[in-house]
Amino acid sequence: MKKSEREAYRRDYAAAKAQGKPFFPYAVYKDLIVASVAIGFVFVLAIWQPIGIGEPINPATTDFVPRPEWYFFFLFELLKIFKGDNALTPVIMATFIVPNILMVLLLVTPFIDRGRERRIWRRPIALTSGLLVIFGLAYLTQAGLEAPVGQAGAAGIELEGLDAQGEAGLEVYIANGCSSCHMIKDVGAPGPGPNLTDEGAKNRGIEWQIEHLKDPTSTSPGSSMPAFANLTDQQYDDLAVFLEGLGTEYR
Ligand code: HEC
Repeated sequence: MKKSEREAYRRDYAAAKAQGKPFFPYAVYKDLIVASVAIGFVFVLAIWQPIGIGEPINPATTDFVPRPEWYFFFLFELLKIFKGDNALTPVIMATFIVPNILMVLLLVTPFIDRGRERRIWRRPIALTSGLLVIFGLAYLTQAGLEAPVGQAGAAGIELEGLDAQGEAGLEVYIANGCSSCHMIKDVGAPGPGPNLTDEGAKNRGIEWQIEHLKDPTSTSPGSSMPAFANLTDQQYDDLAVFLEGLGTEYR
């Protein structure tokens, strides 16, 4: 800062201070009014548009597709950008490392950007990085909105040798949330059901598979697998053929 500038600043500051008002009670009083209006607005909204209590939670549900609220779509999409052999890599990158780098950058901005210029169009770096972050978030949110809604875990099952009936069976498998208890190759939950990658090699037979799906305890006494009693005959058939093909035709 040049000497003349510094003096001009001191003069302006002293003048402003001389005619200024003290923080208490003036500023406090204004804050109080604004805060009351804001809280009142929330109250009015709560009375006018109450949020009801939703359905009771059903922990046994198999068709629930977990999706974040829209304002978390950017994180949801960020997860998909990072791929790794280790399933934890994307989670650590997208929910810890990247957001924390951005937060730290935000915190140190006043120490990096020491310029006195306050007009935004004279600060191209600040302007560009700010816009990049905003557009990045908007882009990821939009991508999250458009992402196909499906059984996120099961949709990645890749098998070779699938014929039309195998495909149909896989669809029934995905639609019924079988992946929440079973794994095929490395997609799905590791338990409580057994890994089904080589189910066909057990040679249970189509009949047995359909029986088991309709009432698991009838073929596997004490089974904790839920009964899938409401599929159509075609769906039982497709699913059973699919299961019997696992590890034999479909691998
Ligand atoms: C709530 C968890 C759960 C869900 C959901 C589930 N299963 Fe199971 N499944 C199990 C358990 C536990 C077993 C082991 C006991 C048994 O064999 O019934 C099992 C066993 C199996 C077996 C092995 C039978 C054998 O011994 O050869 C097959 C095949 C199977 N499930 C298919 C399916 C299909 C297809 C779906 C979706 C329509 C499904 N499961 C959904 C828990 C589940």
